[in-house]
Amino acid sequence: MRVMIINGPNLNLLGKREPEVYGHQSFEDYYCDLKSRHPGIHIDYFQSNAEGALIDKLHEVGFQYEGIILNAGALSHTSLALKDAIAAITSPVIEVHISNVYAREAYRHHSQLSEKCLGVLVGFGLFGYDLALHFCYISRAKAWASKLTRPPGTKNIF
Ligand code: DQA
Repeated sequence: MRVMIINGPNLNLLGKREPEVYGHQSFEDYYCDLKSRHPGIHIDYFQSNAEGALIDKLHEVGFQYEGIILNAGALSHTSLALKDAIAAITSPVIEVHISNVYAREAYRHHSQLSEKCLGVLVGFGLFGYDLALHFCYISRAKAWASKLTRPPGTKNIF
C-alpha cells in the first residue's frame, strides 16, 4: 500500500516555526519515526512552498496511490486550484492540520479543500499524520475483510 504525504508552504520550518503552535520537532525527524511506526505502508513525502508544485504532485500521484495525506498550510484556506486538483484525482485525500485551526484566527476556520477530501484531522499535532495513516491501513484491511467468505453466523469484526 502506498500513501503520499504532501506538506505545503512553511511546513518545511516545523520545529523552528512558532513552536508554541506547531511543536519543536522537525518534519524530517517525525517522518523517520512515522515510517518506523508503520512498517506495513510504503510512505512517500513531498513538501513545497509553491502552489503549482503541490498541484503537479497531486496530478502525478493522485491516480496511483491508495491515499494522500495533505497539509496545504495556508493554501488550504485560499486555494481553489488545489481544491480542483483534489477533485480531479482518484486517490482519496485526507486533510490534516497540526494546530486546531478553529481555536485560531477566523480566517483559518474555513478550508477550501475539506469539501473534496475524504476527511479532515485537525488539532492533534503531528500525531494527526499517524491517525491519517492508521485510517488508510484499517480501511484497506476493512476492504479486504469484506471480500473474505466467512462461515454463516461468523461476525464481521469491522
Ligand atoms: C496549518 C494551519 C494553517 O492555518 C497554517 O497556515 C499552516 C499550518 C496547520 O497544520 O495547523 O501553515 O495547516
